[in-house]
Amino acid sequence: MKTLDNIDQARFFVTRLRRDQQTVGLVPTMGALHEGHLSLVAESVQKCDRTVATIFVNPTQFSPGEDLDKYPRTLAEDLRFLEAAGADAVFLPSTETMYPPGFSTMVRPPRVSEPLEGRHRPTHFEGVATVVLKLFNIVPASDAFFGLKDYQQYRVIEAMVRDFNLPIVLHGCEIVREPDGLAMSSRNRYLDPDQRVRARCVPRALRAAEQALSAGERDAEAINRKMQAILDGDDDSEGVDAIDYAMLADPITLEPLKTVGDHAVALIAAHVGTTRLIDNLRWKVP
Ligand code: PAJ
Repeated sequence: MKTLDNIDQARFFVTRLRRDQQTVGLVPTMGALHEGHLSLVAESVQKCDRTVATIFVNPTQFSPGEDLDKYPRTLAEDLRFLEAAGADAVFLPSTETMYPPGFSTMVRPPRVSEPLEGRHRPTHFEGVATVVLKLFNIVPASDAFFGLKDYQQYRVIEAMVRDFNLPIVLHGCEIVREPDGLAMSSRNRYLDPDQRVRARCVPRALRAAEQALSAGERDAEAINRKMQAILDGDDDSEGVDAIDYAMLADPITLEPLKTVGDHAVALIAAHVGTTRLIDNLRWKVP
């Protein structure tokens, strides 16, 4: 696996492959890799001739007071995992490479960035869209792979690709979960054993929403209340410490639903201790 640490190297490596008619899959990450990230690499290896991962803890998508400084960094292990998963190269830019002195252009993210995460992390998607556009420009891949764990992020990037006519095909990959249902996340390693148990009520609340939908419930607010009750801690388990949102939304616009029609997405963001967890469940989303 080739390590690329500057922009010219990364661009040259990928441009040459593309000139030879090879498809190249890009897998952007912030490192601290787990099976969720590696499933994106596996999908890229399966669908594309070559796979390039990136590891960059992007400061512009963190707000002051968030976990930028303590975001887990496990580079040596990440490189072993990527190599074993079949990545051909990894781009590891420094912060100075991505944001040199004088950097000042930011992407204004699409409307779908505004609800949910946009309310709770107002500058987050501006940072995500900006860094992803930069990565697409530095690594001229044919395809890019993102996890549906960050469902709103996927919709934001999809809208940006459409609106800016970016020549790249996006792939949204299924959420990889722990055996007990918790969605894998680099941030799960912050959870102590008690918090780890309480975190389980996030996937439990999503499954309850799915059961209600399957049973024919169409009142979105009733389902939202059911999810919130589970997150608050019901009879047999303790809940999370705070809920940012737990609601059914339109899977395309992410605006809240009142009545469920043909499809929906249930989305949760909740805090357990100082850890913020997000998860979602798509119901009949094509
Ligand atoms: P990061 O949180 O490292 O995630 C990198 C990619 O892995 C994202 O596309 C995310 O959705 C996916 N992913 C994370 N956990 C997953 C899981 N349990 N199952 C499936 N996919 C999962 O998301 C980011 O980094 C950043 O915002 C980034 C896009 C790299 C821009 O900085």
